[in-house]
Amino acid sequence: MAKTNFDSMFGRLVVDKNLCSENELKSCIKILKEGNSESPATLQDILIDQGFITKTQSKRVLEEVSEAKKNCDQIPGYKIEGKLGSGAMAVVYKAKQLSLNRTVAIKVLPNKFAEKSNYVERFYKEGQLAAKLNHNNIVQAIDVGEAHGLYYFVMEYVEGKTIYDDLAAGKIFSEKESLEIMIQLASALEHAHAQGLVHRDIKPKNIMINQENIVKLADLGLARATSDLEAAKNEQGKAFGTPYYIAPEQIRGEIDIDGRADIYGLGATFYHMVTGRVPFKADNPSDVMKKHLREPLTPPDHINTSLSAGLSEIIETMMAKNKNERYDNPTDLLTDLRSVLNGDTPLLAKRKFDIESLESLEEGEMVEVEGEEVLYKASTLIKYKIAMVVMAAIIMLLLVSLIASKP
Ligand SMILES: Nc1ncnc2c1ncn2[C@@H]1O[C@H](COP(=O)(O)OP(=O)(O)OP(=O)(O)O)[C@@H](O)[C@H]1O
Ligand SMILES: [Mg+2]
Repeated sequence: MAKTNFDSMFGRLVVDKNLCSENELKSCIKILKEGNSESPATLQDILIDQGFITKTQSKRVLEEVSEAKKNCDQIPGYKIEGKLGSGAMAVVYKAKQLSLNRTVAIKVLPNKFAEKSNYVERFYKEGQLAAKLNHNNIVQAIDVGEAHGLYYFVMEYVEGKTIYDDLAAGKIFSEKESLEIMIQLASALEHAHAQGLVHRDIKPKNIMINQENIVKLADLGLARATSDLEAAKNEQGKAFGTPYYIAPEQIRGEIDIDGRADIYGLGATFYHMVTGRVPFKADNPSDVMKKHLREPLTPPDHINTSLSAGLSEIIETMMAKNKNERYDNPTDLLTDLRSVLNGDTPLLAKRKFDIESLESLEEGEMVEVEGEEVLYKASTLIKYKIAMVVMAAIIMLLLVSLIASKP
């Protein structure tokens, strides 16, 4: 048994490190299973035999597996069964929660996080908030803790894939499928925001779909050790990293980040799903971030012309650079998602833009609008001017007639 765990962790790591492909690993596992019991081989022996990895690579991966097992065997009450994946900041393991005999996922954070000021405090605070959430579309938080200097976050185990896996395989989601997924995510956010939890890192890698096709939002309530800006910069070189989905106000390092940042991240994910492209692409994270701040968004229905105008309007509203022009909350977003899924036009998307620009007009602010609206602005001003002249003329006439009528 222990051997199997070791092998599965070894196999996962070898694939994660791009030393061999998923199919090559599968073929080696097949050989392992068919192997005779008289001269039992290990997975690493077979991978070397088949020429997929070298002895040196095997040794390095073995050291990593041993280290991981040593770390995780220190978490009391849980037995590690294998590695599920790793991201920029942490490693996620599959484990058995011994008291309830159920499978869970444990995210183990690197020690260096604990040294960051306030991090441990926020880690527990957000963990407690997350444990209060109970929603079918949110990966359930189970436990947070520290053992031997190692901070860990225990959560519901989701058997399935992430949206990132589908996108990496080249999938473009249909209008209907993407709307159904977004409805589940918006309702997850509605629940989390109502409890005061903002995700801050909505992206395809944090959205899982289980085997019953239920969408699960992951990493809610996992306090981040770095600022949004730092986290974004850390993503250097990653194919689908944070900067592709980060909200402008997070890039600017604003401190009062609210739920509308999640609406932007969800909008950017939506965009990627229906067009097959990230909203803003550049050679490095810093240029991607500049585009989030300044570059106008190419409407998604200009890229995928089969998309309805309504769906495009929803995404554009979600991704408005100014958070005041986005949906105010996930409830409003849900209204529009459901309306477009029913074949109707969105009720709030376009109106939101119109109201915002009218308000700006009244305040006399300069607004960046397209041709048609600029004309509208000019004609409104002319109407105001004419009204003023007419009013002044009436007052003058009244005054003159008053003076003339005096004896
Ligand atoms: N609850 C879970 N159940 C099953 N697998 C999970 C679970 N949580 C995470 N995973 C897997 O572990 C992988 C790594 O997750 P992790 O959150 O550490 O990184 P990420 O979200 O991919 O990236 P980043 O570190 O940039 O946030 C995920 O891509 C997913 O495949
Ligand atoms: Mg994650």
